[in-house]
Order: sequence, then structure tokens, then C-alpha cells
Amino acid sequence: VRDLIPTIALKKGAVELIDQTLLPAEYKVLRIAKVEALCEAITSLRIRGAPALGIAGAYGLLLGVEEEWRTSGGHYFDENGFVADGFPPAVTADAVRRHLGLVSERLRGTRPTAVNLGWALDRMMDIWRREWPGPAEMLRALHGEARAIFEEDVAMCRAIGRSGAALLKDGDAVLTHCNTGGLATSGYGTALGVVFAAVESGKRIHVYADETRPLLQGARLNAWECVARGIPVSVLCDGASAALMSEKKIACVIVGADRIAANGDTANKIGTFSLALAASRFGVPFYVAAPSSTIDPSIPDGTAIPIEHRSADEVKSFRGVVTVPREAGAYNPAFDVTPRDLIAGFITEQGIVQPPFGG
Ligand code: MRU
Repeated sequence: VRDLIPTIALKKGAVELIDQTLLPAEYKVLRIAKVEALCEAITSLRIRGAPALGIAGAYGLLLGVEEEWRTSGGHYFDENGFVADGFPPAVTADAVRRHLGLVSERLRGTRPTAVNLGWALDRMMDIWRREWPGPAEMLRALHGEARAIFEEDVAMCRAIGRSGAALLKDGDAVLTHCNTGGLATSGYGTALGVVFAAVESGKRIHVYADETRPLLQGARLNAWECVARGIPVSVLCDGASAALMSEKKIACVIVGADRIAANGDTANKIGTFSLALAASRFGVPFYVAAPSSTIDPSIPDGTAIPIEHRSADEVKSFRGVVTVPREAGAYNPAFDVTPRDLIAGFITEQGIVQPPFGG
């Protein structure tokens, strides 16, 4: 089993992450020490993918603590990124609490659709809300929670891979959408993790990766991850997927998710819904692979999922070159909702399950 991709890590009082906007042309690790810089990295998709956003949110809160500490002359992390002893006596748990409340809301507002971001921040804020003898104890607990969020995602992704791999036979071709591998998670992946696990168990799998307009997470990132693992991959324009399925070349479609409502309606990258409709037309099983942190049981169905709309420029230009008349408008939702009846099953860390999903 190969190592995880170092998608995001907490190092020496800063967050390090791979700048995903530059891949595959350039592999660059960014070191981010400020909450505002992390928010910029999230909104511009330098770090993206629902589970990775959850981890980024948790680490972002720790950056908020670090910032607060620096302004009061202290330093929260030791050189290995662990909580250091010796807090400035003037800093109270209440002062930290006030600051973290603001940081949490700032981070939460960066991207609305992926529930993992709010889910991770809620977990951190549950720690924040408890009574602590002093800031040192509270901060140590917050740090432990952030590490747990990361480590649980590693375990969940591996388990999703094991659950889903059984669906694939030697020689199968799988159609994917967006990026759902290590870059979108703690380092392994959900939908693409299913492919990795099948390949690790000795099966030969061919990946057909939708390019995923407008920001090409499929073409740039899923293809990059497959190539890195020596898995054969063909990239197709999003509009070619129905034709591909009509040729009966595809054993199944596996996509990730940004938020799954209690009834199973699933928000994922724009284009997922069209893919599910085409898969249904051609009798190709359509699976959603996601950790339980992506299920939002508080939302009864997909109509209540907030959908992020992004800048018209993403549609009207391509890598800096204007491709659409200036006078034309644009429609650019980043996600769509696939109704649960188009989904054959949900590949989770608990196996392949069906809705409804309880609280
Ligand atoms: O806008 P993005 O790139 O963050 O969208 C990501 C997706 O839609 C993924 O399919 C989803 O987050 C699942 S990632 C394992």
C-alpha cells in the first residue's frame, strides 16, 4: 500500500497544503500561517474536496489560536506542530473562546455546500464550549480533536475502499467525476479510493475520468492521481460520458459527495446529476462513495442543500483566456443534486448502505 498524498498537514505552527490549482503542471506546497490566507486557499480551491475541507476547517481553527497567541507574545505550537507548554498568563480561556467563535464563522462561510467543513468546525466548537481549567487544557483538547478528524478520515477512506472494491471485477472500466482521490481527502480518497483498493487487491481497472468543467478537477487531479499510481486513465469531455456508456464500456459510475441528505439525495460537483441520468438510461450502476461525515441527517432532502454559485469568469474564460463574449451571462453552480432514486448504493466506511440516514 502506497503512502497517503500529503494533501494537508499541520507543521510547525502552520498548515501545509498542496496548491491544487497548479496541478498537474506544477507541484507546489504552500505554507499557510494565517486564517485569512487559509480562507483564500479554500475559496480559490487550492484545497478542496469535502473531506479535505473538513480537515482544513479544523486546522484553520488551530491557526486562529496560533494567531491569537502571537499577538499576545506567546506561541501555541512547538516545532513539531504540537501544543507547547507555557501559555501567557494574561490569556484566558474566555479570550480564546471569543476569538475562536469569530474564526469558526469566517471559515464556515468560505464554501457552503460540503457539509464536512461545518461538521468539523462543529466538532471543534463542541470542545470549545466545554468548561476548561485554563486555555492550555482547552487548546490541547482542540489540537487532539483536529488530529482525530484527520486520522478518522484516513481510516474511513481505507474502509470505503475495502467496501467498494468488492463491486469491481478484474478488467472493469469505471467512470468518475471531479476529483475524489487523496487530494480531496486526508490522502487516499473516496470514489477513487475504491479504484485504488481494487487495484491494490490485484484487479486491473481502467478509469475514465470526466474532465469536470469548468475547473477540470477530473482532468487535472483524478488523472494525475491515477498516473501517479500507474492506473490506466482516459480523460473525456463531460459531454462524452453518455456516448461512452452507450457503448457498454463502463461497469459502473462511482462519484463522491459534498452533502448527502437524510433521504439520500446527494450534492456533488456540477455534472454529477447529468451523469446519473445517463447512467440510468443505459443501465449502468451509479454509486456514491462517501464517509459518514458527508451525511447531513438534519436535511430531509436535496432541496435544502445550499448550492454554491461561483464566479462567471470560471465559465467565460479558460486559463486566463476569454472564451465567451463579454455581453453574455453565465450560469455557474459548483454543485448539483442527484435524486436518491438514481443512486444504486452508498459506499461508506460501514459498507454499502441505503437511505434513509438517521441522526
Ligand atoms: O469544488 P470541489 O472541487 O471542492 O468539489 C469537490 C467534489 O465535488 C467532490 O466530488 C466531493 O467533494 C467529494 S471528494 C472525496
